Amino acid sequence: MEIRTIQITDTSMRDGEQTPGVRLGIQQKVEFARQLERLGVDVIEAGFPASSPGDRRAVEAVARAVSGCTVQALCRAVRGDVDAALEALGEAKHPCIHIFLASSPLHLQYKLKMTEEEALAAVADTVAYAKAACPQVQFSPEDATRSDFSFLCRMIETALSAGADGINIPDTVGYATPEEFADLIRRLYKEIPALSHAVVSVHCHDDLGLAVANSLAAVEAGASRVECTINGLGERAGNAALEEIVMALHVRRDVLGAETHINTKELIRTSRMAASLTAVAVPPGKAIVGQNAFSHESGIHQHGVLANRETYEIMRPADIGLDKNMLLLGKLSGRHAFSQRLEQLGYALDDKGIDATFHRFKEIADKKTAVTDEDIGAIVNEYLDGIHGKYWLESFQIQSGNHMKAMALLSLRDGEEVFTEAAPGDGPVDAAFNAIDRIAGRDDIKLESYEIRAVTEGTDALGEAKVKISAAGASFTGRGVSTDILKSSIKAYINAVNKCVAAQAEQEG
Ligand code: KIV
Ligand code: ZN
Repeated sequence: MEIRTIQITDTSMRDGEQTPGVRLGIQQKVEFARQLERLGVDVIEAGFPASSPGDRRAVEAVARAVSGCTVQALCRAVRGDVDAALEALGEAKHPCIHIFLASSPLHLQYKLKMTEEEALAAVADTVAYAKAACPQVQFSPEDATRSDFSFLCRMIETALSAGADGINIPDTVGYATPEEFADLIRRLYKEIPALSHAVVSVHCHDDLGLAVANSLAAVEAGASRVECTINGLGERAGNAALEEIVMALHVRRDVLGAETHINTKELIRTSRMAASLTAVAVPPGKAIVGQNAFSHESGIHQHGVLANRETYEIMRPADIGLDKNMLLLGKLSGRHAFSQRLEQLGYALDDKGIDATFHRFKEIADKKTAVTDEDIGAIVNEYLDGIHGKYWLESFQIQSGNHMKAMALLSLRDGEEVFTEAAPGDGPVDAAFNAIDRIAGRDDIKLESYEIRAVTEGTDALGEAKVKISAAGASFTGRGVSTDILKSSIKAYINAVNKCVAAQAEQEG
């Protein structure tokens, strides 16, 4: 059997960032992009530059940071979006503009309020406009699986005639079934001869839990590229999980007849980094990268695996880079061992970053028996998220009890100055947040959400707090980690306020 090579587009930083509550900072995207490059993805979709100045800067930074793969930026079918994407991709070695416009009657009528002819004209105009300035252009007819087939063909033909090199077929709402989706791909190839000269990609959502099955069915029907995300991150129920697509193609190339360029040994590292950066935990039973994916609980299974691992294992833990022999770091570990572990976890921090995170590691190692890789991920993230903060926590004191109103006294540093304020609140967290508002001189900040989770197990676990605040029509997320959950909450709130202050300063020029 001839084995085809399927290209992989990772859209964790674009569609994955549309996971509810997920926001990645520029430094976080750069670290993640470097890891995706090591993983061996063909294309990184780094963001949607026209959507915000932050996204534009993040795409710029990713375009500068990686050189071994294509960096793709998303645009609506409007010239302004293409201009923003071209600017952001300026330094990319292999740039790609990805234009999308819906092709389904539902989207055209209710969302876009456009006629079919207007939609075709917008596709022709923006694809040609992008192609004049960028070597690679991909076009996606959004909601393709709920579109009228003949109009879908017209839209794809229009994009190809205008110069698109790639066509991406999205199952935007995760509506298709595998047979139906494969049939759609086959019919498109048959109906549009020019499609055989283009890169045909698919982009499946998981609303019915069929995203991976649909993507693989499309590969069998001839698609040559799959858009997916690490850990299946993405809008609503998420996108097809990259690690599942890659390992299915790897383990079952005998029937699927295809492989990828992915270095599978980087999968677990990438998955853990994504979980840590996004603070979206991987469910234990998740295929390939879940904590239980390679554990054998029942006696019969354990016996079988000990006799011959193939009785119950279709792939080896080492195939995805699971190394059970990594030493745990603790308070006696030095800077060298720590920086080596950072490297093993896929983080490439500069000396300043290593110093800062090593300092935090030492503080935490003093309070915890063993510092796990998840803890280190949380420490690095907190650092990446807060690199350019205005306010820093100096000290806090909080009094609270069941017969008194909580009272917080906080000191924050802003450059050379330290500001102190006291504030009451409904509980210790509320009091601390009120004191921060007073120091920042803000009475317009609204707390949208507040979450706290234990990074690992045990009473000495690190607590990671995430907050979302809104002010002046925009929202900002913040995160903080500490073995003390009040401290992590305060740090998370300061982090969000810092982002809000920075965004407003930028707006004011
Ligand atoms: O789901 C979708 O249709 C998309 C497009 C922008 C490709 O994300
Ligand atoms: Zn999508």
